[in-house]
Amino acid sequence: MPPSPYRMLYFILFVSLSICCFIHTNAANIGPFMTADVNEVAGKSFDYIIVGGGACGCPLAATLSKSYSVLLVERGGSPYGNHLIEDESSLSLYSLITNESSSFAQPFVSEDGISTYRGRVLGGTTAINGGFYSRASKDFIERAGWEGELVKDAYEWVEPYVLTPWQSVVKEALVEAGVTPFNGFTLEHVEGTKIGGRIFDGNRRRHTSADLLTLGNFERLTVLLNATVQNVIFQQAGPTARGIRFFNSYNNNSDVYEVYLNQPKEGGPWGDVILSAGALGSPQILMLSGIGPHEHLKQLNISPLINTTEVGKGIQDNPSLALALNISQALQKQPPAGAQIMGIANDFRFIIGSLTVPMSLNATMKIISAKVADPLSRGELWLNSTDPRQSPSVKFNYFEKESDLDECVQMARLIESAARTESIEKFLGRKQSGFVDEGASTEEELREYCQKNASTIGHYHGGCLVGSVVDGDYKVFGVEGLRVLDGSTFLDSPGTNPMATVMMLGRYQGIKMLRERHGRKFNYAHDYECNLG
Ligand SMILES: Cc1cc2nc3c(=O)[nH]c(=O)nc-3n(C[C@H](O)[C@H](O)[C@H](O)COP(=O)(O)OP(=O)(O)OC[C@H]3O[C@@H](n4cnc5c(N)ncnc54)[C@H](O)[C@@H]3O)c2cc1C
Ligand SMILES: *[C@@H]1O[C@H](CO)[C@@H](O)[C@H](O)[C@H]1NC(C)=O
Ligand SMILES: *[C@@H]1O[C@H](CO)[C@@H](O)[C@H](O)[C@H]1NC(C)=O
Ligand SMILES: *[C@@H]1O[C@H](CO)[C@@H](O)[C@H](O)[C@H]1NC(C)=O
Ligand SMILES: *[C@@H]1O[C@H](CO)[C@@H](O)[C@H](O)[C@H]1NC(C)=O
Ligand SMILES: *[C@@H]1O[C@H](CO)[C@@H](O)[C@H](O)[C@H]1NC(C)=O
Ligand SMILES: *[C@@H]1O[C@H](CO)[C@@H](O)[C@H](O)[C@H]1NC(C)=O
Ligand SMILES: *[C@@H]1O[C@H](CO)[C@@H](O)[C@H](O)[C@H]1NC(C)=O
Ligand SMILES: *[C@@H]1O[C@H](CO)[C@@H](O)[C@H](O)[C@H]1NC(C)=O
Repeated sequence: MPPSPYRMLYFILFVSLSICCFIHTNAANIGPFMTADVNEVAGKSFDYIIVGGGACGCPLAATLSKSYSVLLVERGGSPYGNHLIEDESSLSLYSLITNESSSFAQPFVSEDGISTYRGRVLGGTTAINGGFYSRASKDFIERAGWEGELVKDAYEWVEPYVLTPWQSVVKEALVEAGVTPFNGFTLEHVEGTKIGGRIFDGNRRRHTSADLLTLGNFERLTVLLNATVQNVIFQQAGPTARGIRFFNSYNNNSDVYEVYLNQPKEGGPWGDVILSAGALGSPQILMLSGIGPHEHLKQLNISPLINTTEVGKGIQDNPSLALALNISQALQKQPPAGAQIMGIANDFRFIIGSLTVPMSLNATMKIISAKVADPLSRGELWLNSTDPRQSPSVKFNYFEKESDLDECVQMARLIESAARTESIEKFLGRKQSGFVDEGASTEEELREYCQKNASTIGHYHGGCLVGSVVDGDYKVFGVEGLRVLDGSTFLDSPGTNPMATVMMLGRYQGIKMLRERHGRKFNYAHDYECNLG
């Protein structure tokens, strides 16, 4: 593999960290700042409390711990030492062994009848996802109202985890199918075919967002594992968030614990409780805390606090299609590839690529799949019970808007034409059939196929949108001391894949919050010297 600046950066970072910080994992495979003992944390106070150690929560915790004491509470366990998470050769195998109440990938079925997963482990959904890494477009960043320079720095802080470019037959196929130009290796969101990044390294080992915790200040950072947050504790005046209530995720007793925000000395500003529990978790915890549509909360006997009817609204998923390639088992056995080949087609409307997915423990399948990049249909999320361990109900309303169905048909055509190119035919040794027929399918057939067979690639987002549930600083409207920061705040899915931008946002907003408390003098550029040596 050719050298890349990212690999080099990664090497420098890893070696420096290993030497200066003496990173090790103990017998339970948890780092020095992690614990699963609720008694070590219960009743204590911290400057910031972050709920959910996923794509966004980990970089946020590392960043805030630079200057303040931080507690990160995660309902799942540690990803370290788990081969199903770490080894690329096990990619997606978890889907064969999930358990709704205990596995690190929690399955859920939307009310539309589509099943998918969310992470229940430190690292969150970055511990189970496809690992594709791609930045948001300039346009997305402008619409979000983010500061361009700080966004760039935040991506670059995350990116030592992105790896070497790699070429493949899929690239040829996409270029041949007209997904042009070919842009080479780039993390940017540009039209055409490109080689993007992945969070698997040269040893085919996954680096989840949990690895970003090693950039924090271990003296001020505490990560509590296996603890499920029930709700936020409020002081009535304001109302103002003052802490959280949680319990042991896997212990069936009814003990509930509390932890609080530090009271600042000399009347200075308080820190915040920040919900980073994902597109399902964050709206769920808001509702369990009394922030949501009051009529709905009353049905579940939750005492209402703020009647924010927009909580859970606007949640969205990108309808996707996958065409299985008819490949012999011998070729199927080839290990999945290093970097990502991605096509951004038809004026940014479709994202297309190839994946290897497991069919059983000893058989895989290669697919060409694509998603509609900006669907218009939006859905809704509501509570099914007051138990935070149970997933809320969610309906994405795929194809509620007719134009999304038109998009899906065009996307199906694009996949079929990529699958029937000479490059793919040479690789397969035969002609690939379409979605419905041997040849290309008709418009009517494809419409029906979309309605029956469209699925998800897990890029669901929204539920706590900026402007309706949180303000531009991610503060929850109507209360003090509470923010939401994760994929639930996104109106659209950024880049070819969202994870890069969700991780970037954790770092970005962490820096903004440090600036807010330190004043303009705060300089983040050199703030990790202590950890790096
Ligand atoms: C199958 C699949 C494949 C994907 N592939 C890709 C890909 O290749 N590239 C890409 O960019 N994106 C991909 N994604 C999407 C990406 O992983 C997510 O968009 C991203 O992880 C969302 O980040 P988040 O911080 O919002 O939530 P998450 O990463 O899900 O983090 C939320 C965390 O909160 C914790 N939590 C929830 N509730 C509670 C509670 N009550 N108490 C304590 N903790 C709680 C969870 O356990 C979890 O750790 C994929 C998603 C799926 C499902
Ligand atoms: C978390 O709970 C799981 C399931 O009970 C257990 O296997 C794991 O060891 C626990 N993690 C830690 C760090 O104790
Ligand atoms: C799921 O895990 C829980 C807790 O470990 C266990 O009690 C239950 O039997 C499991 N369910 C299945 C279907 O294996
Ligand atoms: C815990 O209790 C719930 C409901 O009370 C039950 O469904 C579940 O099986 C129990 N889990 C274990 C591990 O005993
Ligand atoms: C909550 O707000 C909605 C929308 O504004 C309104 O229709 C409803 O009556 C309110 N409910 C309560 C209990 O105030
Ligand atoms: C896949 O290829 C085999 C020949 O190896 C053929 O018998 C089979 O019908 C093909 N399946 C499809 C769905 O095209
Ligand atoms: C795969 O495993 C199944 C059951 O575990 C077995 O029946 C089958 O023969 C295996 N197939 C191959 C190709 O090894
Ligand atoms: C709760 O979940 C169950 C099982 O997923 C489902 O059948 C039921 O319709 C849901 N109830 C509500 C009110 O969403
Ligand atoms: C498409 O959906 C139909 C109806 O649900 C099902 O019978 C068929 O097997 C699906 N096709 C594929 C390729 O999944």
